[in-house]
Amino acid sequence: MNGARERIERLRTEIRQHERRYYVDNDPTIADEEFDLLMQQLRALESEHPEWLTPDSPTQRVGGQATDGFPSHVFSEPMLSLDNAYSVEELGEWNDRLRARLDDGDIDYVAELKIDGASIHLIYDAGILSHGITRGDGRVGDVVTSNVRTIRSVPLRLTADDTVEVRGEMFLGIDAFRRLNEERDARELPRFANPRNAAAGSLHQVDPAMVRERPLDFFAYTLLPRGERQSRDLERLHGLGFKVNPNWSVCGSFDDVVEFCRDWETRRDTLDYEIDGVVVKVDSVDLQERLGRTSKAPRWAIAFKFKARQATTSVLDIQVQVGRTGALTPKAALEPVPLGGVTIRNATLHNEDEIDRLGLRIGDRVLIERGGDVIPKIVKVVESAPDGRPFQAPTACPVCGSAVFRAEDEVVRRCLSQTCPARIKEAFLHWAQRKAMNIGGLGERRVEQLVEGGLVSDVSDLYTLSGNPERLTALERMGDKSVENLLAEIDASRAVPFEQLVHGLGIRHVGERTAQVLAGHFHSMKRLMAAETAELEQVDEIGPVVAETVSRFLREPRNRALIDRLDAAGLPMASEGPAPDRPNQVFAGQRIVVTGTLGAWTRGEVKAMIEARGGRVASSVSGRTAFVLAGADPGSKLAKAEKLGVRIVDEAAFGDMLV
Ligand code: IVH
Repeated sequence: MNGARERIERLRTEIRQHERRYYVDNDPTIADEEFDLLMQQLRALESEHPEWLTPDSPTQRVGGQATDGFPSHVFSEPMLSLDNAYSVEELGEWNDRLRARLDDGDIDYVAELKIDGASIHLIYDAGILSHGITRGDGRVGDVVTSNVRTIRSVPLRLTADDTVEVRGEMFLGIDAFRRLNEERDARELPRFANPRNAAAGSLHQVDPAMVRERPLDFFAYTLLPRGERQSRDLERLHGLGFKVNPNWSVCGSFDDVVEFCRDWETRRDTLDYEIDGVVVKVDSVDLQERLGRTSKAPRWAIAFKFKARQATTSVLDIQVQVGRTGALTPKAALEPVPLGGVTIRNATLHNEDEIDRLGLRIGDRVLIERGGDVIPKIVKVVESAPDGRPFQAPTACPVCGSAVFRAEDEVVRRCLSQTCPARIKEAFLHWAQRKAMNIGGLGERRVEQLVEGGLVSDVSDLYTLSGNPERLTALERMGDKSVENLLAEIDASRAVPFEQLVHGLGIRHVGERTAQVLAGHFHSMKRLMAAETAELEQVDEIGPVVAETVSRFLREPRNRALIDRLDAAGLPMASEGPAPDRPNQVFAGQRIVVTGTLGAWTRGEVKAMIEARGGRVASSVSGRTAFVLAGADPGSKLAKAEKLGVRIVDEAAFGDMLV
């Protein structure tokens, strides 16, 4: 067979496999850029040999595939994809093509952020959400209305009775993604590789209750039928009650477009959701119509893609680090590879099970990804090395040589020595971090000096250092000024909020968020220490595993003695009184159900009042419900509350609670 023809066939087969993995399984094995490259190669070959172009070639369709199991919906206007520009030059070429087609004077562009999630299509019938649909193959999508309804930023009713269709991106914020993974760790479920996969996978869940647990979000960007300008449509979408990403701009010149793209490429890390580029659109719908589209994408829009944060590389070795809880964490040493502007040499592996799950051996080629986290992770093995070496889990601590132990219910091995220098060092670094006690200048080298010099053995010792500063000045690279600065930083840490101290203690499973929840609920160390496991479990967002670890930590005499020393050193052991602009957190950590018609407030007002006081409005009554606020004509929720013995509060009593 002819070489080019064979190559075309091979490319098509390969692309189809990747399409299936990406769209159907939500489980890609190559980076988006690599996929685009395969498509480009196929397109180039097909344009050289148009005689071999067939209608079933991956280049001939919009992309994606509908999944079985959900009803289908045929879009009135296909959900096209976008052509990509990987450089300012390619963006310029797109602009030149536009101008050649239009030979008009000035063109206004709209630049929007390209949200890295999954697109969905919404249908509103006289202002009421009637259908939520996935993109599917762009022509036919899956109807997943119940799941879409759980996304809080998708309005169920518009501010006007319009019959419209709306498209936009559904996504998971970075914080929500981290929390979801932390929770999955605690439940020992596999982590999601990135927010996009976590979001996209959610829509095909069969149980909407599972979807509700993931705090999905939504930005609208297309209104159908279109108005006169994209910029006006964005404003209208906002007016109809949608969340529209605020970072869009009308650009009067191509130079402004380039500036917008460059600016956001450097600022993408400041956002709490992932973006992978900028979508540039021609503002005038009239011009959009004149430009038209190809079979795959509109000519009037293009995606300027930021430098990829996925890449493939090889695993040179798997090393083991010891963390503050004694956990032995394997880390992959990688063949250095550039990724999103930095050179990557390592990736986290979490635990041995993760290595098994990935089927990873030393020597394999892997797909790595840098998402919200700074340290990249291995998404999967893309090519196993024929002579790959399996990872041997250590039987002794690589730092202190003590025995290591893996409990039956745990995914990690731990060094059991309380005096392991690696554990002590990590505990200090955790204590000093910005989101805990925020002690600037207490970095890795300094901690090593202090620990190895015998000046400190646990974090409470930091607060005794000011007693004899000469011991510090005796250390290498510690002049009077450095000592003074460090002592000032340590002293200032006495003023951090209580919740940061709870975080700083380094209790397993208690990250920043959980620490906030605990501090918000108990308000003081005394009350937290007095709480039984069962009481901890009652706190919203605290599961049985976390409750048990917190309780075990606080019962341990050595930890209680440490807390006593911290208390004596003047560290915050209780929440401050409420800030003047923040109402008393009377509902902190509570789930409250509202039912029936209220006289004094709208549902929205009640929700805002509860949330401002630290509570959460839940939609159904369960054993975890703190109380049910019942107005006139309450429904079945009241009966359920009575059955479960949940407290019922009327409007007047609720008003009294709002002190
Ligand atoms: S406009 C014909 N605007 O990017 C217009 N898309 O690579 C098509 N996306 O499938 C979409 N943010 O899922 C548009 N501000 C934005 C976007 C956006 C993210 C996604 C969308 C689309 C994909 C194309």
